[in-house]
Amino acid sequence: MTRAQADVNLDAIAHNAMRLRSAAPDSRLMAVVKADGYGHGMVPVARAARAGGADYLGVALPEEAVEVRESGDNGPLLCWLYPPSADLSGLVERRVELSVNGPEALHQVIAAARTADRPARIHLKIDTGLGRSGSPMDTWAELVASALGTQAAGAVEIVGIWSHLASSDEPESPVTDRQVGVFEEALAVAESQGLVPELRHLANSGGTLRHPQTHFDMVRCGISVYGLTPGPAIGTSAGLGLIPAMTLTSEVALVKRVPAAHGVSYGHRYRTRRSTQLALIPVGYADGLPRSGSNRLPMMINGERFTVAGTVAMDQVVVDIGDAPVRAGDKVHLFGPGSHGEPTADDWAAACATINYEIVTRLGPRTPRRHLGGA
Ligand SMILES: Cc1ncc(COP(=O)(O)O)c(C=O)c1O
Repeated sequence: MTRAQADVNLDAIAHNAMRLRSAAPDSRLMAVVKADGYGHGMVPVARAARAGGADYLGVALPEEAVEVRESGDNGPLLCWLYPPSADLSGLVERRVELSVNGPEALHQVIAAARTADRPARIHLKIDTGLGRSGSPMDTWAELVASALGTQAAGAVEIVGIWSHLASSDEPESPVTDRQVGVFEEALAVAESQGLVPELRHLANSGGTLRHPQTHFDMVRCGISVYGLTPGPAIGTSAGLGLIPAMTLTSEVALVKRVPAAHGVSYGHRYRTRRSTQLALIPVGYADGLPRSGSNRLPMMINGERFTVAGTVAMDQVVVDIGDAPVRAGDKVHLFGPGSHGEPTADDWAAACATINYEIVTRLGPRTPRRHLGGA
């Protein structure tokens, strides 16, 4: 037993990848493993996702792509967020595919291809309405023409055209269909110049699970690979056939009895109503517990649910356990799949007015990950 531990069920990751494959049976599957596999540990998760049938891996940053390659994974891998100052030649040498947002990125990639002395494999990105990265529609034709010219000169191979959805977690939002429309327009512009790429991809987890019209040739799934729903309106993990992979546990550090009207934690934002016992749990916001979970975060001790009393501190929280027979050293389930009555990452997200993505991803490096299964 350790102070805090995140167990990651790799069999759940493989199961979720298989489930996502069946949700988009005619498309390839990319498992998005950026941000340390959404806090689950990038390399083991990447392996498990591949075992579950992921054709591609997706990362945001060059250093994440290098870490995947250094783990021995030489399969298809896309990297989409690099600063203009980055030397991408190492990625091209390692056959990491690169997103291209516009003319500057194209030049950056061409320079990398020259240094690496091999063509860079690229995915041209169109902004279909997210308003974040990607070429705007009014300069798209130019970007396609430049990329085709570069391809003819041998510096790049255009593998894909892609974009990202803004509101796929809202089943009724008209934005998704609007984005599909713009994406199809962008594909038509490319085709009119003779470019029909092998991979057209638009869907994230929400698109994969709820909007089949977004599937195209590949879907890119992040949160659902980890067994979590992309949004409450899409469904629950169980309803979607997903298994949450992470269980976060700790142990009770101290139990003590205090009188009524005793202030608890910084600012005394909790006060005991009667004589009661307080249990100290040695995890705090330095471990990734949102401070907005003060007086709100649920946890389970010995099969009973409690709520954090008072402010979440840097290293610890307090729980008012009443007269429950809890002792120092007892195991605390902070969140998990919910199969034994423990709170879930979704419960935590609801308690903190955030999304489950943030709950798992912000779990800090101070909490060891233990990877189970995945043989
Ligand atoms: C470009 C891109 N594609 C796909 C994903 C995966 O999204 P989700 O976790 O909602 O499946 C992300 C994650 O933010 C992303 O940035």
